[in-house]
Amino acid sequence: MSAVDHSILDHSLDRDTATVLNGPDRLKLGVFGANLSCGMGGITTHPGRPMAGNWDEMKAIALAADEAGFDALIPVARWSGLGGESRWEDRSLDTFVWGAAVAEATSQIYVFTTCHVPMIHPLIAAKMGATLDHIANGRWGLNIVAGWNRHEFEMFGMTMEGHDKRYEIASEWADVVKRLWTNEGPFDFDGDFYNLAHAISEPQPMQKPLPLIMNAAASPAGQKFAVNHADMLFINLAGISDVKGTVGQAKQRAAEAGRDLAIWGNIQIICRDTEAEAARFVDYLADEVGDVETANRYVAAHVVGSDANTFDAYRADPEVVRSLITTGGQMQIIGTPEQVADQLHTLSTEGVDGLAMAWIDYHEGIAQFAVEISPLLRERGLRSK
Ligand SMILES: Cc1cc2nc3c(=O)[nH]c(=O)nc-3n(C[C@H](O)[C@H](O)[C@H](O)COP(=O)(O)O)c2cc1C
Repeated sequence: MSAVDHSILDHSLDRDTATVLNGPDRLKLGVFGANLSCGMGGITTHPGRPMAGNWDEMKAIALAADEAGFDALIPVARWSGLGGESRWEDRSLDTFVWGAAVAEATSQIYVFTTCHVPMIHPLIAAKMGATLDHIANGRWGLNIVAGWNRHEFEMFGMTMEGHDKRYEIASEWADVVKRLWTNEGPFDFDGDFYNLAHAISEPQPMQKPLPLIMNAAASPAGQKFAVNHADMLFINLAGISDVKGTVGQAKQRAAEAGRDLAIWGNIQIICRDTEAEAARFVDYLADEVGDVETANRYVAAHVVGSDANTFDAYRADPEVVRSLITTGGQMQIIGTPEQVADQLHTLSTEGVDGLAMAWIDYHEGIAQFAVEISPLLRERGLRSK
C-alpha cells in the first residue's frame, strides 16, 4: 500500500453537469467579446463602448454577467486591431490570462478561452487550459479557432496555410490537446503537423471526460471539425435568412456522426422603450458616431482579404459598411423589451441553443437585460433566472 495519499489529486467533476450545456434553461445566454476595446457591438465612437483600457472595466462587465445569471463569457482572440478612431479590437486582453482572472472573480458563469491553433502549441494550450479549469473550479471551456487573418499570421512571421488545411492542422492539434488531458502518463505523438516526445501535462482538467470545446466556423471543413471535436458550434447569425435551416443542417451533420452539437449564435441587442427610439439610436450610430474608416478597413481585411466562409454574408451585403458600424457584424436584435424577447424566442424555436450577446454599451446593456428582458424570457419559458 502506498504511504502517500493521492486523494487530494482527485478533484474532478462531471462535465455534463455544466449548465451552459445541459442546464434547465431552454435558451442559454452568454456575453461575447467583453475582452476587447469596442466589444463586438458596433464600429462606433459612442462614448459608452467598452475600451479595455483597464482591468476594472472588463472585470465589472464579467461580474455583471455573472450576477445577471448568464451562462457563458466568450472572448474574442485577436492579435491586432484596425487602428481607427473607434479603436475597434485594437486593445484585446489575452483570452487565457483574462479567463483566469475572470474565473477567479466570478462564481457561476462558464468562462471560455478563445485559442488560435496556429499560434499556440497544443502542449501550452493543454497546460494553460487545465490550469484555468482548476482556477475556475470546472467552469472553463476551450473555443478553438483555426485562424483566418493573414495580417496576424504575418505578425508571427508565419505563412497562412490554405483554408481546409488549417482545419486539418486544427484537428491534429485538438487530438493532441485531448490526449494530454486524458492520457495516463507520458506519450509520444507522431503526426503530420505535430511531433511530441514523452508528452505529459499534469494536472489534467477537473472536468471529466474533458472541458467543453466550442468551435466557431461556417465552412464545410470547419463544421466537420466541429462535429468531430466540439460540443458547441458557434455560428455567425448575421445575414442568415434561414436560421432554422442552417441550424438544422449543422445538427443533422452532427447526428449523422453520432454526436450532439449545441448551436450558438451571435447577436447584438439595441433595446429602447419604443421602436422609434431604437431606430433613432441606429441612425445616430450610423450618422453621428460611425467609424467609417475602420469599417472600411474591416471590409478590406475580413471581407475582401479573407477566405473565411463566415464572412460570406458581409460579402453579399450592399450596405456592408453601415451594417458593420451599426451591428459590429452580429445579427441585430432591435426594439422594445417585448420585441427583443420575442426575437430571442423565435431564435430558440428555430433551434438555436445559445446566444452570445454584444451591445454598444455593455455596462448599460447587461443591466437593462437583467431588469427588463430576463423577466420576459421567464414568462416565455426560455429562462428560469
Ligand atoms: C461567431 C464567430 C466567432 C469567431 N471568433 C473568432 C475569434 O475570436 N478569433 C478568430 O481569429 N477567429 C474567430 N472566428 C473565425 C473562425 O474561427 C474561423 O477561423 C473562420 O470563420 C474561418 O472558418 P470558416 O471558413 O469555416 O468560417 C469566429 C467565427 C465565428 C463564426
